[in-house]
Amino acid sequence: MQTLALVSITLCLAVNVWAQKPRHCRSPPLVVGSLTVSAREGEFFAEAKYTYDALQKRVRFREFGCNNSQSFHTDKLILFRKRVMYDISYHDHSCKRIPLRVHFHPMEVPREAKLLSEVVLGSSSAPGQGLLVNIWVGNVSETGGKYFSTFTEFGCLPVSSIYYSNSTGWVMTSFFNNMNGIGNPEDFIPPDFCMRKENEETEWGTERDFFEALF
Ligand SMILES: *[C@@H]1O[C@H](CO)[C@@H](O)[C@H](O)[C@H]1NC(C)=O
Ligand SMILES: *[C@@H]1O[C@H](CO)[C@@H](O)[C@H](O)[C@H]1NC(C)=O
Ligand SMILES: *[C@@H]1O[C@H](CO)[C@@H](O)[C@H](O)[C@H]1NC(C)=O
Repeated sequence: MQTLALVSITLCLAVNVWAQKPRHCRSPPLVVGSLTVSAREGEFFAEAKYTYDALQKRVRFREFGCNNSQSFHTDKLILFRKRVMYDISYHDHSCKRIPLRVHFHPMEVPREAKLLSEVVLGSSSAPGQGLLVNIWVGNVSETGGKYFSTFTEFGCLPVSSIYYSNSTGWVMTSFFNNMNGIGNPEDFIPPDFCMRKENEETEWGTERDFFEALF
């Protein structure tokens, strides 16, 4: 009898946890992973590896892609605290050092986002076949843009985002192979050839949000 009571209490608790409304969550502070971005009706496509550090506000992107039928490769180190972005090319040891006016935006469900739905990607028929995610929608008032963002219910990791603004059009981003923790701390140290004086560049004119900065 006691066992039955315990089991029913446990079940009750489990159901309560399950029934909790999804919360506006923030991703873990240290994440490495990969993503794909496509935009301009497929004229722009890129795959990137990223290293993300929300504690010290810095991000590294190594990106391969195709823009207007031209392939490109970029390597960007963004140090938000130092207000600088390095555009790095190991190929010819060139480096653009670009002062930054954009603010760091952590990977999170924005406070003003509204929950559209909670769904299982894949299947809930058996363990390991599905992924429980929350889909959020919102507007970016600074750019007049709007977005759909999908985050995992457990772990609060980004799964995908669809972003639209007049200046970018539709931008689709998918995240995969995320891992907690920083893989290589040197990802955040600019190479020596970035420290030369002639590598100063002009300032970015506009404030950009996270998705536009990604793009
Ligand atoms: C893609 O190419 C267009 C036209 O050449 C250029 O204006 C644009 O800045 C490029 N976009 C990116 C993200 O490189
Ligand atoms: C976004 O803005 C549109 C148009 O102003 C509005 O109808 C919609 O409810 C807003 N969505 C959210 C999630 O705030
Ligand atoms: C976007 O473009 C549409 C149509 O040209 C225009 O009506 C709207 O005001 C623009 N929105 C922003 C935020 O610029």
